[in-house]
Amino acid sequence: MSIDRAQPLRLGVLASGRGSNLQAIIDAIETGTLDARIVVVISNKREAPALDRARRHGITEIFLDPKPFSGRPDTREAYDRALLDILQKYEAELVLLAGYMKIVTSVLVQAYPNRIMNIHPALLPAFPGLDVQKKALEHGVKISGCTVHFVTEGVDEGPIIVQASVPVLESDTAEALSARILEQEHRLYPRAVQLYAEGKLQVEGRCVRIQKNGSSSIPSADAV
Ligand code: GAR
Repeated sequence: MSIDRAQPLRLGVLASGRGSNLQAIIDAIETGTLDARIVVVISNKREAPALDRARRHGITEIFLDPKPFSGRPDTREAYDRALLDILQKYEAELVLLAGYMKIVTSVLVQAYPNRIMNIHPALLPAFPGLDVQKKALEHGVKISGCTVHFVTEGVDEGPIIVQASVPVLESDTAEALSARILEQEHRLYPRAVQLYAEGKLQVEGRCVRIQKNGSSSIPSADAV
């Protein structure tokens, strides 16, 4: 069922670093290819360039310091409760992890079931975790790419929404491969969010069906 929205989809973005995926989302909104509005950008890193990017575009940005939450048994959950308070205060409908390098807990996942997306620079379920472009090269894969998925409590494990493939070249370094994958990330993430905004994503167990022209299908790599 597609959604005819009176108001743009309200996005909360969590980012820890450079923020190029955040920028791709901002650009897609500003050029009109993504019908959404970023209501808040939150970072666990005070110096994250992602916060500067938000500020430059007049978007509310918040540094949520993890330090006051450390040293207690429920450190990560307590941090996520504070995050959740902010996301709810700004009435975020969908949460985007955009280079957010902290594992989200059940606190956030249960408050936003199938309403948190992540982008990962590999073709999941291959190469979850960190340094994945280096691991892909070391493993000798011929094709890598990126994945947008819904976030569950397992790291990089949730239902896959869309993927894009990138050929691995014999001359590749981790940096060169990362740069080519990143180009695809910037193309893929706004499109996945737009599909959500249009109400075209239907989660059935592990599978995400994308409704196209009245019918639904499970997409293969590069399907969007
Ligand atoms: C991106 O490549 C993103 O896929 C990756 O971090 C980078 C962030 O770049 N995320 C993960 O590895 C999450 N598991 P950005 O800050 O420029 O968007």
